[in-house]
Amino acid sequence: MRNIDEDNITDTFMGYMGSDMDPRLRVVLGCLVKHLHRFATEVNLTHEEWNKGIEFLEKAGRISNAQRHEFVLLSDVLGLSSLVDMLHSSPQGTSSSVLGPFHIPDSPPLPLGGDLRKDFPDPILLVKGTIKDPQGNPIPDATLDIWQTAPNGLYSSQDPDQETYSFHGIQSVGDDGRYAFTTLRPVEYTVPTDGPVGDILRACGRHPWRPAHLHFIVKADGYKTLVTEIFSADDPYLDQDTVFGVREDLIMRYQKMQASSFPDEGYDLSGKVDEPYWKVVFDLTLVPID
Ligand code: BEZ
Ligand code: FE
Repeated sequence: MRNIDEDNITDTFMGYMGSDMDPRLRVVLGCLVKHLHRFATEVNLTHEEWNKGIEFLEKAGRISNAQRHEFVLLSDVLGLSSLVDMLHSSPQGTSSSVLGPFHIPDSPPLPLGGDLRKDFPDPILLVKGTIKDPQGNPIPDATLDIWQTAPNGLYSSQDPDQETYSFHGIQSVGDDGRYAFTTLRPVEYTVPTDGPVGDILRACGRHPWRPAHLHFIVKADGYKTLVTEIFSADDPYLDQDTVFGVREDLIMRYQKMQASSFPDEGYDLSGKVDEPYWKVVFDLTLVPID
């Protein structure tokens, strides 16, 4: 095709794709390019604006490394990560929510009743619940991968003062589907703003805050893996999460407890709690693989 114009360029692109191309890639890439062409036409994109876009992508590439995932962050603040989550979240199960860029694989085992708070002085948060199927039956032998920030609002991978696996652990859940651990109440924090995604937030007049949350990845044989977060009910940013992760069923409510009610056994901290603490009971529902 030589007489390319604005009207035939999209069809010409489609025609350039080979017949032996992966069919799903043909659909996804074809549709992406169709929308890119339409977008450029609709906004009458100028060379200057297009160059700015390319510069932005180059900057995002330069700042990215094994710990810094600027493209994940971009997808998060644009709402794309949450949209993909929602497209594949089953209404019978707990809602999924953004993985975010700070998960680290292979966190150390966290025994049932284990403690993530370690030496931090803030009040303890006891978190427990049951991993269930949509009928409410406990799912045996699930694993729960847990991570959160330290009270300074930084994940261990962002903070040279924290150990690699600070506030990270993987719990193997027993036959009764019950999980339990102690930690600290999570805090609200800002997504990183020192890179090109921060420039976008500022250009849009947007704040960078996420409401306080705990991250979970729940896995069990025969069930779809659930990537989710649970959010503090009293958080001021609950209705304005900058990465669009909050769903009604993911809101956790704290109960204030007296020290004397802390379980006498079953927790690393049993017998060691002499201050009021917070408690959350939160069940998680997994849906079977079809
Ligand atoms: C997080 O919750 O860890 C997160 C999610 C999206 C962007 C930045 C951080
Ligand atoms: Fe987070």
